[in-house]
Amino acid sequence: MATTTPVSERIRVEVQLEPSHREADLAELRATLMESPRRIPSKYFYDQQGSALFEQITELPEYYLARTERSLLESIADEVAARTGAEELVELGAGAATKTRILLDAMSRQGNLRLYVPFDVSESEVRRVAEELTREYDELFVHGMVADFTHHLDEIPPGDPRLVILLGSTIGNYRPEEAVELLQGVCDPMAAGDFFLLGVDLVKDVERLEAAYNDSAGITAEFNRNILRVVNRLAEADFRPESYRHVAFFDRENSWIEISLAAETDQPVRLEALDLTLSIEAEEKIHTEISSKYDRPMVEEMLVASGFRLAEWYTDPDRLFALALARKSG
Ligand SMILES: C[S@@+](CC[C@H](N)C(=O)[O-])C[C@H]1O[C@@H](n2cnc3c(N)ncnc32)[C@H](O)[C@@H]1O
Repeated sequence: MATTTPVSERIRVEVQLEPSHREADLAELRATLMESPRRIPSKYFYDQQGSALFEQITELPEYYLARTERSLLESIADEVAARTGAEELVELGAGAATKTRILLDAMSRQGNLRLYVPFDVSESEVRRVAEELTREYDELFVHGMVADFTHHLDEIPPGDPRLVILLGSTIGNYRPEEAVELLQGVCDPMAAGDFFLLGVDLVKDVERLEAAYNDSAGITAEFNRNILRVVNRLAEADFRPESYRHVAFFDRENSWIEISLAAETDQPVRLEALDLTLSIEAEEKIHTEISSKYDRPMVEEMLVASGFRLAEWYTDPDRLFALALARKSG
């Protein structure tokens, strides 16, 4: 059973990630660790430390994604608010919601802003964002959802005309068929008048792409290794994060940055909660994330396969990043 707690008159937080879900998470983790090559689902990056490291990544000089998406949002927010007439903003993978205020401000200028729904696996982020935003916006209600968007999208309560957003190139963390499945889950419960705004990173020269994931300060490497700390807690495991090297390169064929952790030496690993012992060999890679790079036809195809139609395509002058505005087709 999910628990919904009124935190204040204007904040509710609904927790869908229940202990019973841990069993499903552990089963999934076992399966991905036994794949060849081994894999850890990227949602495990985001404990409190991981979310803080991700915020640091967004400030790095090499990481053009966040600042480009931000300035693009600034330039289109009023148009999007007017065109959608949305009263509710639902943000999937909201994280620290740093860019959210741009849209909330624009909706507020339209006189429409009523409800914000931050949806994230990170409970600390959902609670913090709910507190901050109700302080900053006098009339705003926040219905926080601590939930997994690969499982719980149909738990979002129905409401008034809404804009659902998935920013930060988060969709790029999913393989094409998984991305379509996720986006179908977004599209299915949407009403005819709702809109969806999707942030995607675009294909560009390899040096620039690879530099964004191999920053000179080593923050991305630390973020990558942090996933092992999260798995250690979840599965009572004894991965030694410092014994793994961060690896990130552009896989041109799949059009994604592939991110992994390479064991420096042979690593025996015990996962008590899974009753599993792994022998990870020196230089063996554990895949932790992909970050897909798109062009417009790829995004349009993905949206159409998920039940959407593209309403508008926005990109910056250098064509680094794009925001796709979509509606349910039909
Ligand atoms: C790449 S960050 C983007 C954060 C923010 N939206 C931005 O644009 O800066 C991805 C966010 O999605 C959340 N997330 C990842 N997998 C998730 C899942 N399966 N369900 C819900 N949230 C998830 C993470 O906790 C993290 O806050």
